[in-house]
Amino acid sequence: MARRWKNTLTHDDVTPESVYLNRRQIIAGMAGLGMIGGTNMAQASTDLEPNSWEDITQYNNFYEFGTRKEDPAANAHQLTTSPWSIEIDGLVDRPGTYDFAEIMKAMTVEERIYRFRCVEAWSMVIPWNGFELKDLLDLAGVQEGAKYVAFETLLRPEEMPGVRFPVLDWPYVEGLRLDEAMHPLTIMATGIYGRDIPKQNGAPMRLVVPWKYGFKSIKSIVRISLVEDEPPTSWNKAIGQEYGFYSNVNPEVDHPRWSQASERRVGGGLFARRIPTLMFNGYEEEVAPLYAGMDLRKFY
Ligand code: MTE
Repeated sequence: MARRWKNTLTHDDVTPESVYLNRRQIIAGMAGLGMIGGTNMAQASTDLEPNSWEDITQYNNFYEFGTRKEDPAANAHQLTTSPWSIEIDGLVDRPGTYDFAEIMKAMTVEERIYRFRCVEAWSMVIPWNGFELKDLLDLAGVQEGAKYVAFETLLRPEEMPGVRFPVLDWPYVEGLRLDEAMHPLTIMATGIYGRDIPKQNGAPMRLVVPWKYGFKSIKSIVRISLVEDEPPTSWNKAIGQEYGFYSNVNPEVDHPRWSQASERRVGGGLFARRIPTLMFNGYEEEVAPLYAGMDLRKFY
């Protein structure tokens, strides 16, 4: 498994965008010289420029704060994210309430530049900071018999103006198969561009599964349950024929109302050319084995 890179960045570091981009050029140069990285490293460093801080933090989906793209940036400041704790329960050796600050002390925070592909056919490239979900699950000790991981977002109506509207069945919930959850590409993101993750992006901790459509990346998580059966997911409950449990990025399987064969990169301007969507969002080499023998039209 080719890792992007590790660095010494911590949660509290602040990297201005300009310094950040400089460092990336150095890293890209190293990749060019064959000093680090595998296929994706080279791809991410050479041909994919990350979106700007503004694109990433002003154009969001976080329905607890409203359904328009600009609503989360306008409303999420109301969310209290400190103190924050997360309940880990179900089939684990050490169930309980885990304090976010304590989790951060135990984790190695890395930086990963991932493609992000929303089901609505727009995309971005985002430099996340975070840790592997596997490391958190190992902290709790996954038991034999656990087959899926269920996630739940905070539900706090007094700080979330959007939950007055029954657009989704609150709280927002998501799920992964255990092997997807343990995959090294699956991370808990706690930062962007070396800064703390903004509230509209899912502070203090949100899931990122880069080969799946964006809605699988559940935000502001307060509960993780290790379970035996496939857990319900918010968008599947809302419109099951459009949003399946797997939701892998797949240019060959269209959404019932639009094509998934191409995407528009946010920030490219109104007339930006659509670019082809890649199988598993470009992570095919790493994740295709998880789905060997599965009919991806049936398990969409
Ligand atoms: N998580 C919660 N709790 N509520 C949401 O409405 N929206 C999802 C996902 N996670 C959502 C959520 C959708 S549809 C997408 S595309 C991504 O968050 C968007 O992430 P971003 O706003 O950070 O780009």
